[in-house]
Amino acid sequence: MQLLITFAGLLALAFANTPAPTGKVVCYYDSKSYVRESQARMLPLDLDPALSFCTHLVYGYAGIQPDTYKMIPLNENLDVDRSHANYRAITNFKTKYPALKVLLSVGGDADTEDQQKYNLLLESPQARTAFVNSGVLLADQHGFDGIDLAWQFPRVKPKKIRSTWGSIWHGIKKTFGTTPVDEKEAEHREGFTALVREMKQALNVKPNRQLSITVLPNVNSSVYFDVPSIINLVDFVNIDAYDYFTPERNPKEADYTSPLYTPQNRNPLQNADAEVSYWKQHGAPTTKLVLGIATFARTWKLDSDSEISGVPPIHTDGPGEAGPYTKTEGLLSYPEVCAKLINPNHQKGMRPHLRKVTDPSKRFEVSLTKESDISNTFGTYAFRLPDDNGEAGTWVSYEDPDTAAMKAQFVKSKGLGGISLVDLSMDDFRGLCTGDKYPILRAAKYHL
Ligand SMILES: *[C@@H]1O[C@H](CO)[C@@H](O)[C@H](O)[C@H]1NC(C)=O
Repeated sequence: MQLLITFAGLLALAFANTPAPTGKVVCYYDSKSYVRESQARMLPLDLDPALSFCTHLVYGYAGIQPDTYKMIPLNENLDVDRSHANYRAITNFKTKYPALKVLLSVGGDADTEDQQKYNLLLESPQARTAFVNSGVLLADQHGFDGIDLAWQFPRVKPKKIRSTWGSIWHGIKKTFGTTPVDEKEAEHREGFTALVREMKQALNVKPNRQLSITVLPNVNSSVYFDVPSIINLVDFVNIDAYDYFTPERNPKEADYTSPLYTPQNRNPLQNADAEVSYWKQHGAPTTKLVLGIATFARTWKLDSDSEISGVPPIHTDGPGEAGPYTKTEGLLSYPEVCAKLINPNHQKGMRPHLRKVTDPSKRFEVSLTKESDISNTFGTYAFRLPDDNGEAGTWVSYEDPDTAAMKAQFVKSKGLGGISLVDLSMDDFRGLCTGDKYPILRAAKYHL
């Protein structure tokens, strides 16, 4: 007993001396939202209500010019020309929010012209120099505090969870072996380490400039990131732990897109816990790891072959139909999802609402400071079976304020550096769902 009390006293002392950890809240702004229509159109001004919750604002995205390997604005007219000057509009928020760090992110899957350039750049010291010098100049010219490398590495191949051809499939794999996605993996890994080092050196010429890395969805960290060599060079690593399943990669099978832990019989590496563990095991201080939370939903079409229980993994027939505002197949913003969950007057002619299903499983995490119960560890989905004509079947995996809060709690219990929101334009920035603007961002922030 005596011992316990002493111990508790020591603990209290220890915590009294450490400042309360203030988690990072890294807010991504995808400038693509500027050209969406109607309710989905987001102007820089719409960011304002979010910014008191954000420690970082990241502008997505700059790109690479194929022949010169220079870092360039992907949309010159929108980003830098005098008529819009979005880069400047974004960095000007620092006047109102002096503590806010504003970074320019490059890549992020927004740079679609000539995918090979991301690999080729890593193979050439001259190309890296051109990229680093132009990038630092571009960031400087528009008042950014630093650069985020959301590098477009080759992705792990999508795999089916279940297959009616099970045994035959295994046979084929054994005969032909698995072809590697990237034959120069080792070279690209080394090139990226060099790039991070060179970028850090160039940024360090001025004080207080930041460098971060974003691990895009389905990039295999163990292949491309030499953690011990790069971790001390970066301010944080943003791990995009979502999109493990997408209608584009997995048109015939839907599953939880962003589980915290491994659901049964799934790849044990494709979840937030496993990704964070990889970085930790290789020596990354937990405080440098930021967990990426998607604000958008992935959607699939259900057909007459889909299991009527709705339980994933479920057979699907390609991407779900586009939302009224974001107008992209297989994708919905959070306000588009929340509108589908309710049908206030059961109006005739309107499609029935989607049925929401939360995962009942729970985890208990013990951190230094407190114990926390983390429920809904795989995420939430909602679905509607096809009607009598085989139409309108939909399956949606999405993040909402409750699941985002759970992820923030996970981050807290693991002592991680914070969360990131990808991106603000897909959260309910107008407050259409309940009247509160940015409900996903708020819920996550409050639980950090
Ligand atoms: C990532 O690469 C490692 C080999 O370095 C491999 O063992 C692992 O299965 C890969 N992860 C995924 C999700 O494919």
